[in-house]
Amino acid sequence: MNQLKKTAAAVLEANWQQGFTIPCQGLYPFQWNWDSGFIALGWAYLNAERAKEEIRSLLKGQWSNGFLPHIVFHNPSDSYYPGPEVHAAELSPHSPEVPTSGITQPPVLGFILEYIFNRLDKDQAFLDFIDEVFDDVYANHSYFYKHRDPQQEGLVYICHNWEAGTDNTPVWDFIWNTFEVPEYDLPRKDTSLIDASHRPTNAEYCYYIHLIELFKQWNYDDAAIAEHSPFLVQDPLFNSMLIASNNSLIRLGTLLGKTEQVSQLNIWNEKAKARFNEKLFDPQLGGYVYYDLRGERLLSHLSSSSFTALFAEIPQPEMADALVGHLNGGRFSGAQYERLLCASFDPTSVLFNSQKYWRGPIWINLNWLIYEGLLNYGETELAQRLKTDTLALLDKYGFYEYFECDREKNEALSQGYGGNNFSWSAALCLDLLKSNQ
Ligand code: SER
Repeated sequence: MNQLKKTAAAVLEANWQQGFTIPCQGLYPFQWNWDSGFIALGWAYLNAERAKEEIRSLLKGQWSNGFLPHIVFHNPSDSYYPGPEVHAAELSPHSPEVPTSGITQPPVLGFILEYIFNRLDKDQAFLDFIDEVFDDVYANHSYFYKHRDPQQEGLVYICHNWEAGTDNTPVWDFIWNTFEVPEYDLPRKDTSLIDASHRPTNAEYCYYIHLIELFKQWNYDDAAIAEHSPFLVQDPLFNSMLIASNNSLIRLGTLLGKTEQVSQLNIWNEKAKARFNEKLFDPQLGGYVYYDLRGERLLSHLSSSSFTALFAEIPQPEMADALVGHLNGGRFSGAQYERLLCASFDPTSVLFNSQKYWRGPIWINLNWLIYEGLLNYGETELAQRLKTDTLALLDKYGFYEYFECDREKNEALSQGYGGNNFSWSAALCLDLLKSNQ
């Protein structure tokens, strides 16, 4: 295990760029929002100053209205499409000096701050750092509840698949078939850097780019997006991350004496948790699913996102039991545990593809969230199985971006999928290893 730790540290070191960490050389050459959260947790084991710098650098990209973009383009690079000129965030009156994208990503900073604080044995210097950034992270939550919840129901929407993090989950197929898009010229770089069959298709990319083009026409105005965007979805993963971050900001804010913010966070969070269970739990499937606000319908498909509510301590006991059932001899594990946890999409669905990005492969950040979520519900045996299998994948193949879930197929494979030396795989490996030291 010591060797694994050393290799993980070397990946983070190699991806460090004066103030922040790129997710992967070539494929992702800038600073990404939720990547940086998980990466900061990894840095906490190696160099706490870098964890702080990572977060400070991300916050340099924050907009004046509290919005936190999904990419901060600190540096130029020609190995990624779409770059800053495509996103053109400067069209918004709220955008900062540094070029950024104009869409966001799952809000992980709140709980990452608390995890780091706890992993550093409640270090006072880190609490001072939390005090330094608390208001900025709070402003981001305030932005969501003010601008992303048009019906004031406690659940926020995402307006782009890249905001979900789960870029090409089959769930989006049911959104894409509700509108048409032009055929864009796509100077993609990703498909020449890694196996194109592991990446989203060009047809899907036309939808991704079209949404950005629409948002630019509206100067990234939230009211216009809420009114007109053909993609407007309440995502169980995104809302779980926001609620988990609320949970953490409430505890941290209490420590720091932030009475007003804590009371507002409690109001948001109580409403959010109740509505989440009421609206996003599909009793037939026994799991949380996405809600399409534009089409006013549930998108009833299970994915790894369905389990992340455990992390945010949202499910009632019987809902948690249903989720655990899918992972313990159910459709995600298979009756004989013939599948490693956790496939990013329901492996029993015809839309499942075990090699294609978010249409099936295992992702380390989702495994980490589900592992921690299972521990929240006292499912220690299943959590341990998930952790052991995750570490075994990282040990066998290295720090790939995503992995095959089929046990038998894994026997014959010699590598993972997507990019290699991927930062959050390394960072979260360090966290998973902590209890093995
Ligand atoms: N994950 C996206 C990509 O693949 C960007 O957020 O480019």
